[in-house]
Amino acid sequence: MPQSSRFRSPASARVAGLLLAGLLWTGTSAGAERADLSKADRARVRTVTAPAKDFSAPERFEVMQAGAGTINNKLLNPDIFSHPAGNLDFEGRQAFLIGNGLFRKDWVSSPSSTQASDGLGPLFNARSCQACHVKDGRGTAPAFSTPERSDTVGLLLRLSIPSSTTTRTGPGVNELASLPDPVYGHQLQTLAVPGLPAEGSIAIRYTPIEVALNGGESVTLMRPAYSVTDLAYGPLHPQTGLSPRMAPPMIGLGLLGAIHEDDILANVAANRGDGVSGRANWVKDLKTGRQVLGRFNWKAGQPTVMQQSAVAFSHDMGLSTPLVPDHYGDCTQAQADCRAMPHGAQAHLGEHEVPGELLDFVDIYSSNLGVPQRRDADDARVLAGKKLFYESNCVACHVPKYVTRRDAERPEHRFQLIWPYTDLLLHDMGEGLADHQGEGAADGREWRTPPLWGIGLTRMVNPAAGWLHDGRARTLLEAVLWHGGEAQAARDRVVKMTPDERADLIRFLESL
Ligand code: HEC
Ligand code: HEC
Repeated sequence: MPQSSRFRSPASARVAGLLLAGLLWTGTSAGAERADLSKADRARVRTVTAPAKDFSAPERFEVMQAGAGTINNKLLNPDIFSHPAGNLDFEGRQAFLIGNGLFRKDWVSSPSSTQASDGLGPLFNARSCQACHVKDGRGTAPAFSTPERSDTVGLLLRLSIPSSTTTRTGPGVNELASLPDPVYGHQLQTLAVPGLPAEGSIAIRYTPIEVALNGGESVTLMRPAYSVTDLAYGPLHPQTGLSPRMAPPMIGLGLLGAIHEDDILANVAANRGDGVSGRANWVKDLKTGRQVLGRFNWKAGQPTVMQQSAVAFSHDMGLSTPLVPDHYGDCTQAQADCRAMPHGAQAHLGEHEVPGELLDFVDIYSSNLGVPQRRDADDARVLAGKKLFYESNCVACHVPKYVTRRDAERPEHRFQLIWPYTDLLLHDMGEGLADHQGEGAADGREWRTPPLWGIGLTRMVNPAAGWLHDGRARTLLEAVLWHGGEAQAARDRVVKMTPDERADLIRFLESL
């Protein structure tokens, strides 16, 4: 796998030595300035979020990785990602149930006899949210035969053209914005209502890459190449690039939204070793028009769960909401036949196909899916793996813990000690993972560190799920071996581990 050499650390670097010399991540001063905390709170937050030093036993509260919202292990079965957070109050649970119905419901095209469920499309990728976020977990990874034609729902292709104009995308940052394809829009829709052609199909060609590991082991990575076939509306713009995105799991999202911005931005400036330098994405809040910190999606391109849900209704299903009010979703002006089809807005039901109250229910649902309890956190091999996770400097990006805002919008998200293992920042992950497409301030080699909580239950929820932004990794070890760029040094340490050490590291990930 070609990797940039600029981040490579000396092969002889001894991890313990690096730690002592202060070259690896040793935690940031989380909560140092937070206005939501009293002075006493700040000191407490600093103590409980300090990096682990003792690996002989689990840390206090570690097992409850989403604080009071954590889901009990007695519920371990394929529905484990579908429970409301443990601390959601009665009213919240009622709203969650209605939101659950909307997340699962199949929308239909207009006109139909079930007027409250119509408006799907005209162009769309799936009929329901849950078709992609399978059982509130990840989407289904495409099969890995070569070459492969994939109409797998759950994997989308974003379309974008680099723009020649420079726009201000955040405090002190000037970035190149990107534009949608002039005909196909922001995303390739692989389905359409009767009477209208779908935009095209996704084709994937995989090339196997052999990676040799210390101890005589080897792993085969599958490198995907994406293209579009059966284009129904003429060629793509010559500069349009493709960015594949797999539906991520839905757990713990409200808590990620309640992490204080200061705690996230503190990691931008922090020295985290290995040349790791996270960047914030700055994106538009559609409600206020302001540039705000992006946290959600694979490039942190969306600031809130509500906004991403509205964009999903629009781009993935062609449904209008007060936040994204076009009834035609991602149909462009160039797709005249699409824009001449009937839409689902009914005067007596409100202005939008999905009225504001329904979007609110979906928002409460999507913000409150509970994160499961850790399993086997006190197992000696899991603890050994946790130590390796720290010593390999995975924690530079997969930042273990936070205490959420005292003044979070919803009460169940307030002042919780959580263990999501992410910094929510963008990192150059090298050429092997690059999509060469920008989004907000993110460039074509950058991805947001994904949270790792619940990652060990991925296959219990969807046995056909894969890891990384496009589902290409068939195992957790493959996911780690794809790391490059700023994560090259961490990845190389995993290659050099003994087979037993590698197994322990994976055991730790499986316990999350
Ligand atoms: C066609 C498949 C598909 C459908 C349908 C779909 N999603 Fe998604 N969802 C995705 C993908 C892919 C991403 C990641 C997008 C990205 O990185 O830009 C995503 C991301 C999200 C996220 C952000 C998660 C995170 O960890 O950052 C939320 C919230 C979300 N979707 C909610 C919804 C809701 C609500 C619906 C229904 C209204 C829905 N989605 C329908 C594929 C889908
Ligand atoms: C420089 C930051 C950085 C470091 C260091 C790092 N990661 Fe990651 N990690 C990421 C990013 C960014 C992604 C998402 C990449 C993508 O999807 O293309 C990721 C993805 C993952 C995934 C897959 C997550 C998912 O939801 O599919 C796993 C597992 C993982 N990392 C484990 C590790 C381990 C173990 C280490 C240490 C050996 C490590 N990471 C070091 C940034 C980092």
